[in-house]
Amino acid sequence: MRTTSSPPSARWRAWCWPEARTHRASARQEVAPPGCPASGQARREAPMIYLIAAIAGLAGALFGFDEGVIAGALAPLRRDLGIDPVAEGMMTAAVPFGAFIGAIIGGRLAAAAGRRKLLLWSAILFIGGALLSALAGGLITLTLARLVIGLAVGVAAMMAPLYISESAPAKERGMLVSIYQLAITLGILGAYVVGYAFDENWRWMFAMGAVPAVMLFGGIFALSDTPRWLAMRGRSAEAKAALARMRERPESDPAVAAEYEEIRAAAAADEGRKATFADLLSPRVRPALIVAMGLFLLQQLSGINAVIYYAPTVFELSGFSSTTTQILATAGIGVVNVLMTVVGMMLIDRLGRRLLLLIGFTGTAVSLGAIAIAAATGSPSLGVLALAGLVLYIASFAIAIGPLPWVMMSEVFPLDCRALGMSIASLVNWGFNFIVVFSFPVLVAEFGLAGVFGLYAVVCVAGLAFTQWLVPETNGVSLEEIERHLRSGRPLRELGRLHAA
Ligand code: BGC
Repeated sequence: MRTTSSPPSARWRAWCWPEARTHRASARQEVAPPGCPASGQARREAPMIYLIAAIAGLAGALFGFDEGVIAGALAPLRRDLGIDPVAEGMMTAAVPFGAFIGAIIGGRLAAAAGRRKLLLWSAILFIGGALLSALAGGLITLTLARLVIGLAVGVAAMMAPLYISESAPAKERGMLVSIYQLAITLGILGAYVVGYAFDENWRWMFAMGAVPAVMLFGGIFALSDTPRWLAMRGRSAEAKAALARMRERPESDPAVAAEYEEIRAAAAADEGRKATFADLLSPRVRPALIVAMGLFLLQQLSGINAVIYYAPTVFELSGFSSTTTQILATAGIGVVNVLMTVVGMMLIDRLGRRLLLLIGFTGTAVSLGAIAIAAATGSPSLGVLALAGLVLYIASFAIAIGPLPWVMMSEVFPLDCRALGMSIASLVNWGFNFIVVFSFPVLVAEFGLAGVFGLYAVVCVAGLAFTQWLVPETNGVSLEEIERHLRSGRPLRELGRLHAA
């Protein structure tokens, strides 16, 4: 039970000025002595960690915004700059390309520079990139500006979930990872709304990206680095103080001391043992690598970002001639994406991962197939079918194919290989994101909408087979149990059979 209630602003002040906290913390200790029930402790911890998740979530919102903003900007850009499909693909795909490089840089610098510093740098790059793209005089500057934004996205998309998971209490980690995916979808929706609000003015659309970036900078600036990173660098006093602030409890609290001891021991163990690529390819870890990489490959080749980045173009190809209608329909897609992500978050622990993925891939395969057939046969109701098909497609993606690769990549790897495995999986995500976004205008010009969507539909059918044969059920299975299963040498897909739907 909550024993003290303070307004969020007071909590925020206490976070920024720890001395002020100490008084409040000791005052609280009188009414809530150490050793009070665990559930009570968990509820007291929640507000600060949600604030931290919201700040780090701004990085997810920026990731989504910079993916989605191009959707509204493309029509006026084509008009103002007169670009051909190859240049359009390059300029649009500069974000995922930059993100691929950013993820490599982020992975290399995370240990030395720390999560906070890298997030601050990415916020600065986000602000610079937004302003540079808003002021760009031509296609080359714009492509460079989007490359800068991409670098920021790549670094932030790795650091923000890491910041959250290293700050969160263990039992809230899964939920907080899903909040990150929700932030991505909110960013995409925000970009669509901005596209609608600024109608034909692409400069203002890009400039708006600086707003959440400034908020990210301010928010992260006020926070310290994560207790785990501080402990890893041997800064134990700061690590303990940071943990106490995050849990809103005094440093002397036994729960804080116990958690700190766990973090310190894990950090010490990590130091002695550094995972290598050979470890990832060993028979023990390989099945996990295949699942994590495979799910991201399928997520991207299901064509999601052809829809997210080029939705108005898809509507135009389906017969919606007014730009405003195209942008409005696109905003509708953004709303469905957000709402169905929330539904997915509610179902993920009830239906399990496998059933949800099977539902998702069936829905995407059917909807893409229907649009492809309607486009190939020149159906008079192509417009209606495309709209209904895209809604079904996004809904099926958002409940399963969007969040599950992120959730499962944080579950399947054994602890010693988790960081390296996750960074390889993110590279697959960005690499194929780039390929899809770059190739879409070129492929549409060559094979038409029917051919391209037909191809994505075939990938979704492959996703069904992949899930059926290779994806394990991790719902309700502890991370330690997953690790034991991998060590036993039994096929990974047999894991959690009892839990499977
Ligand atoms: C994917 C992004 C995609 C987004 C759409 C994420 O899970 O990684 O590439 O744009 O979902 O909501």
